[in-house]
Amino acid sequence: MNILTHRPRRNRKSSAIRNLVQENEVTVNDFIFPLFLIDGKNKKTEVKSMPGIFRLSTDLMLKEIESCLKLGITTFDIFPSLTDKFKDKTATESTNKNGLYLKTLTLIKKKFPEACIMTDVAMDPYSSDGHDGLVRNGEIVNDETLDILAKMAIAQAECGIDIIGPSDMMDGRVGFIRNALDDAGFSNVSIMSYTAKYASAFYGPFRDALDSAPKFGDKKTYQMNPANSKEAILEAQLDFEEGADFLMVKPALSYLDIIKDLNTHFSLPIAAYNVSGEYAMVKAAAAKGWIDGDRVRDEILLSMKRAGASIILTYFAKEWALKHKN
Ligand code: PBG
Repeated sequence: MNILTHRPRRNRKSSAIRNLVQENEVTVNDFIFPLFLIDGKNKKTEVKSMPGIFRLSTDLMLKEIESCLKLGITTFDIFPSLTDKFKDKTATESTNKNGLYLKTLTLIKKKFPEACIMTDVAMDPYSSDGHDGLVRNGEIVNDETLDILAKMAIAQAECGIDIIGPSDMMDGRVGFIRNALDDAGFSNVSIMSYTAKYASAFYGPFRDALDSAPKFGDKKTYQMNPANSKEAILEAQLDFEEGADFLMVKPALSYLDIIKDLNTHFSLPIAAYNVSGEYAMVKAAAAKGWIDGDRVRDEILLSMKRAGASIILTYFAKEWALKHKN
């Protein structure tokens, strides 16, 4: 006589059945691939702490986008890596139409109108202080920063880009940028808000890539405290009311609970940013032979989907697409 009514293992007994009952799946449609842009021609420099990830000059970036489109990756988040001479207190370079970033964005959209291009709105790549907002007497001032961010967003929208990504964590910026975009005739440009962006040590390799580490202090007066989750709900409420189209959680892996919370409470799509430090850890352990990098990568990405993200920004996008090519 069998005393077990339920034997969950029956639903795991073969690959066919495991596939039938599988709840979540990662596909190439989920990805946004972050790319780093540098000045020059035919230039490609590897980010030391991110093996396999390169800063690319415009010509090589166009080639990279073309090859990714062929693999089914449709969406790219472009970050500029600028030398110090392009940085000042007010991020002037961020609206320079003849500057590297805006010129390249225009070119990308001209060459690949079908590519969905996301841009970053924050002052840090252009700021001599290395902060996301305007610094006055050692303080990151909120409301004056909003003007700069809105001008930056409009300048990017004028290049034809599709999604604005405010990553600065100033209060009220989503609504402010939304109004500015609408007034300038860009009501079709989307906003993917960095909604719950934590003050995290996982951004280290990204700051190496852009040479954008803060010149003093840290980002704790604007990015969130890793100890908090209610605050994420508040940020999401505000972004929702201010007109965000997507809500992002960043980093992803240590914040899966936040992804789940936001997905439960809000009807907007949730994006997870699988950040630079998360990528670096997998690469470093895999290089030592301590983990199976491919399997760990796939498991990590899947965990973000399971938590409730429908979009994943990840440096793994291209290698995943190559590995899973049919
Ligand atoms: C800057 C910005 C950061 C990242 C995306 N936009 C770094 C920071 O806030 O210091 C991090 C991305 C990553 O680590 O992969 N506003």
